[in-house]
Amino acid sequence: MHYSSVPNTYEGFVKAFHPRSGLDLNFYKQNQMQRRIMSFMSSHGYQGFPEFLKALDEDKTLFDAFFKHLTINVSQFFRDTNQWKTLQEVILPKLTQRKTSLKMWSAGCSGGQEPYSLAILMAEHFPQVRPTILATDIDENVLKQAKDGIYKENDFVSTPPAFLQKHFTPTDKGYQIKDSIKRMVSFQRQNLLTARFETGFDFIACRNVVIYFTEEAKEMLYQKFAESLKPGGILFTGSTEHLFGMNHLGLKPMSSFFYQKQA
Ligand SMILES: C[S@@+](CC[C@H](N)C(=O)[O-])C[C@H]1O[C@@H](n2cnc3c(N)ncnc32)[C@H](O)[C@@H]1O
Repeated sequence: MHYSSVPNTYEGFVKAFHPRSGLDLNFYKQNQMQRRIMSFMSSHGYQGFPEFLKALDEDKTLFDAFFKHLTINVSQFFRDTNQWKTLQEVILPKLTQRKTSLKMWSAGCSGGQEPYSLAILMAEHFPQVRPTILATDIDENVLKQAKDGIYKENDFVSTPPAFLQKHFTPTDKGYQIKDSIKRMVSFQRQNLLTARFETGFDFIACRNVVIYFTEEAKEMLYQKFAESLKPGGILFTGSTEHLFGMNHLGLKPMSSFFYQKQA
């Protein structure tokens, strides 16, 4: 490829990066994305987009590091303790009434901390209900970590110590999730912006994923989530994410950050 034919502009880079990564950066807010890209480029010594694109094509390690930098996969078990308390004490008791199984999804699951937290919560507090938990992310590297299931101490700052003791085994590399929890979750690579979603979910968690999406991309995604939920199903969002002005989606606030699909 002649890299000199790639325009040295953000738009030119976005267009060239899409087929290489499957990621259409037009769905992400330009200001923040451009800043993140420029900061990565300058910290790795690249001045222009064509030169940077060439380096990405030639160096898989650089490509993976850049993809990771773009997708921002910070996570934690039981992140935002109060919301998990509401989930346990208010939302799940209602959702599990007269049910023997639940179809759940952690969309944008990062290294598995969120879906495994769901699995632990279900095993600890709702053992009469059998959950199937789908966990998806666009980043292959975080999915690998999720499948390995090994975590560092700082992943557990919001985790009740009893859960850490009961559901993880200390190893040389970190704390390993036990098989009894691991087998409750299945991981898949998926781009939320382009994929067709499964339907019939009782519960979808999509938290701290849409922060960098444009308003149009967010609305499209929430529309798809609304269609994927069963009537009465719940969408759990991140602590800065509200569905203001989206009444037409048929998702009614149940409590802060929990929305219920209307019948
Ligand atoms: C900040 S993490 C959030 C992890 C977890 N949900 C939580 O709240 O702790 C955001 C995750 O969203 C994923 N992500 C970003 N854009 C995505 C897309 N278009 N499709 C699927 N996952 C995406 C990233 O790879 C990253 O792992």
